[in-house]
Amino acid sequence: THLHDFIRGLPKAELHLHIEGSLEPEMMFALAQKNGVRLPYPSVDAIRAAYHFTDLQSFLDLYYAGAAVLQTEQDFYDLTSAYIRRAIADHVRHAEIFFDPQTHTERGIPVATVFSGIARALRDARQQGFSGSMILCFLRHLSEDDAMATLEAALPLRDDYADVWVGVGLDSSEAGNPPEKFRHVFAIAAAMGLHLVAHAGEEGPAAYIRSALDVLQVERIDHGVRAEDDTALMEHLAKQRTPLTVCPLSNLKLCVVPDLRHHNLARMLRAGLCITINSDDPSYFGGYMNDNFIAAAEALQLSCAELGQIARNSFEAAFVSPEQKRIWY
Ligand code: ADE
Ligand code: ZN
Repeated sequence: THLHDFIRGLPKAELHLHIEGSLEPEMMFALAQKNGVRLPYPSVDAIRAAYHFTDLQSFLDLYYAGAAVLQTEQDFYDLTSAYIRRAIADHVRHAEIFFDPQTHTERGIPVATVFSGIARALRDARQQGFSGSMILCFLRHLSEDDAMATLEAALPLRDDYADVWVGVGLDSSEAGNPPEKFRHVFAIAAAMGLHLVAHAGEEGPAAYIRSALDVLQVERIDHGVRAEDDTALMEHLAKQRTPLTVCPLSNLKLCVVPDLRHHNLARMLRAGLCITINSDDPSYFGGYMNDNFIAAAEALQLSCAELGQIARNSFEAAFVSPEQKRIWY
């Protein structure tokens, strides 16, 4: 249809994508066999059939179990390359990719292996006109000391990956793990010149969005759909044009919203917030970028002008130079 063609043709940037969440069941199964990792599923179909979630935690349990099949530098390269192929097909020109090193270092995989595989795929993709960077995420269900040790382990890689490693983020179980738990490690990352983002207001309260901004000093909020509970915060976000990286299909699959027709992204966009659309964990939530755009557009009757605005917002919100932004939009 016209709408689908319009969405497909829009150049976009993806700013909220967990690379471990792009692991398709086929690759999970193949890597498990190659690496001798036991999965609790007998087949690819059984993996896919297990993807029914009731909340964030019910998803995270499977997501971390699935990530255990990733072992070698080549595995991370193949994972990232597969995502990039899929992104290019959706007219994604630029992606800022989250990765969770603690999920891997806990299993004895060196952090350098993770960096190397992801970065090599991003660098190779430049030949196709694709631009990509990496955002190291701390797992918020673990301690700040653990996050600090992760940042310290990555410190010696800073120069080798200066062209791709642009920031740090905060993800995993939100409720009970407020942003301020990580104030020291975020202050150090800021002093290193890294960009800062955090998941906030996905399942957690609007107060977590405020503390991510006020205490951690993040530049973007990942999800942020609970911002509407706080009118003054909404006005602040609109005035500052603080980007929210919203993930419609994720919110649906994790029961953050009961139905996409109840999603507040259109209201927040119309209130002047810098709303972007992203896929979060596409292999688990049943859709890449264009699937998320199409689902939101159909459920919320977004106009072509609004869809164009959302795509422009994604470049406005990207961690790239003003010169690069002028080339893109
Ligand atoms: N890790 C991967 N996806 C996530 C999400 N949507 N929220 C929190 N942590 C995550
Ligand atoms: Zn996420």
